[in-house]
Amino acid sequence: MSPSLTHWIRRAGLVLGLVLTQSLHAAPAALPNVATDQTIGTINCASSTCHGSIAPWNESNVLQNEYTTWSRLDRHAKAYTVLLNKQSQRIAKNLGLAQPAHESKICLDCHSHNPDSKNRGPRHVVSDGVSCEGCHGPAGKWVTSHTVANVPHAENVANGLYPTSRPVEQAKLCLSCHFGNDDRFVTHRIMGAGHPRMAFEIETFGALEPAHYKVDADYVRRKGEYNPVRLWAIGQAYASQQLLDTLASSKRGRDGLFPELVLFDCHSCHHPMSEQKASLRLGVGSGRVNLNDNNLLMLRAIVRVIDPANSAAFDRQVSQVHHAVAGSAEQRAADPVALAKNLSATIGRYMNRFEQETFDAAVLRNILLALLDETSANQYANYAGAEQAYFSISSLTSSLIKQGGLAASGPVTQRLTSMRKALANEDKFRGEQFLTEVAAMRALIPAQAK
Ligand code: HEC
Ligand code: HEC
Ligand code: HEC
Ligand code: HEC
Repeated sequence: MSPSLTHWIRRAGLVLGLVLTQSLHAAPAALPNVATDQTIGTINCASSTCHGSIAPWNESNVLQNEYTTWSRLDRHAKAYTVLLNKQSQRIAKNLGLAQPAHESKICLDCHSHNPDSKNRGPRHVVSDGVSCEGCHGPAGKWVTSHTVANVPHAENVANGLYPTSRPVEQAKLCLSCHFGNDDRFVTHRIMGAGHPRMAFEIETFGALEPAHYKVDADYVRRKGEYNPVRLWAIGQAYASQQLLDTLASSKRGRDGLFPELVLFDCHSCHHPMSEQKASLRLGVGSGRVNLNDNNLLMLRAIVRVIDPANSAAFDRQVSQVHHAVAGSAEQRAADPVALAKNLSATIGRYMNRFEQETFDAAVLRNILLALLDETSANQYANYAGAEQAYFSISSLTSSLIKQGGLAASGPVTQRLTSMRKALANEDKFRGEQFLTEVAAMRALIPAQAK
């Protein structure tokens, strides 16, 4: 299609006005790396009249400069390049890989869009890293329809466009690389070989990428409401499920005699012995390895507000899994795998509920307070917990400000900055300071409520 024709069709679409075409409960979509359509290659998206404009267009539905944003600012565009650096060479050597990192499927599966060879068009190259099609799905079938103005979004999705605008599907996509799934996974062995620890919170990371889309009235008309708090909540629920499902998985849950260690708090083990840090997380007790429960802690705060009647039961379920995994006296007879599966199923039901939840300013404020209250119980005293709490507190605070429920003020910003400082060095984590800042933030929220 000639550029001017594409342009004209887009303008015509604007004149006609697009009809709301969101289909709410579509079937789960195949992730881009396993979808069977043809991958055509990033070069097909990059023209200055498609998504490679230098500046955003005013007269278009979408910004049109997505490629420019991605290639200049988004780490995903560099994800392949990091496989060529010294750190990657060392990881590959330590793992004893037969090929260098940038040729090894185990690395390429996350550091690029790496579909099966039979699904690759001639212009696709893995050196594009995590490319447009790595998130939006192989474009073989949707490339034509998505440039035609009056074609509804749902039809593009039916043609294989991955439904990134649906929170559950988006969480599934991001976490398939930022935590892993049955097809790709960073194990403790890979981390031991030198791979960085993974930290993730979908709303924060989506903004950090940075976002190459703008949620405006036109976006909502085409794709439905966009609610960052819902995205955050669903992200917490989905990540918790991933932890529990991996724990219960016979494929990924074990490594020899040991459980897969990435499911546990890294700093349970990785700290100097001289540092007496008996962590009493959820009452599990000292001398035990704690599950990496940072997402589950956030989820407890959400459930406390959304479903107060069942919140104690939910907390109990979380605590039972903890105790069973750690082999505490009270749960020694319990089967941790069965308990993990049960909790995962409960979370699945909450996830459906979050999809319907509006998360207005009052609900949001209460969630934020519930989350900050957990500090008094000393729950974020470990690094990963504090880090996840920080991502969440900063995301929710900024949503509350945008919703008009909190004044944007110097003190709020200061508290966030100090929390970030306390987290700056993982090996010298200043837990006390972090908790002090969280308590100060707890006092600010009601004081500055609007
Ligand atoms: C399950 C997906 C996954 C797999 C498999 C994987 N990685 Fe990564 N890797 C990531 C993610 C996600 C990050 C970014 C972590 C962050 O910054 O939060 C990352 C980060 C890195 C970094 C640090 C990059 C930087 O900018 O500092 C290196 C180096 C790296 N990976 C190398 C490898 C190598 C080599 C392999 C193969 C042995 C590999 N990775 C396998 C997902 C993966
Ligand atoms: C890491 C995943 C990821 C990558 C890589 C990625 N996108 Fe996106 N993209 C998203 C998400 C998430 C959204 C927001 C949800 C939505 O609207 O579907 C989005 C939204 C969009 C939109 C929709 C804006 C709107 O108003 O409807 C366009 C257009 C787009 N991306 C184009 C691109 C192009 C072109 C590339 C490659 C240069 C690219 N994306 C790479 C994840 C990604
Ligand atoms: C195909 C795998 C893959 C998918 C899907 C993916 N990512 Fe990533 N992401 C990576 C890798 C690999 C890196 C590390 C790249 C590097 O450091 O150069 C990364 C890095 C990032 C970073 C930069 C982190 C940092 O430390 O600076 C952000 C932010 C990010 N991803 C957000 C997202 C979001 C949000 C989504 C979902 C919309 C997503 N990613 C989906 C593989 C993926
Ligand atoms: C149950 C205890 C335990 C947990 C939990 C654990 N590790 Fe380890 N880790 C070990 C042991 C044991 C070694 C091997 C140490 C050696 O070879 O001397 C190791 C080795 C490593 C190494 C190689 C460097 C070294 O010290 O030898 C890295 C890096 C690492 N782990 C990162 C992590 C990360 C990241 C996490 C959390 C996602 C984590 N570990 C969770 C016990 C643990």
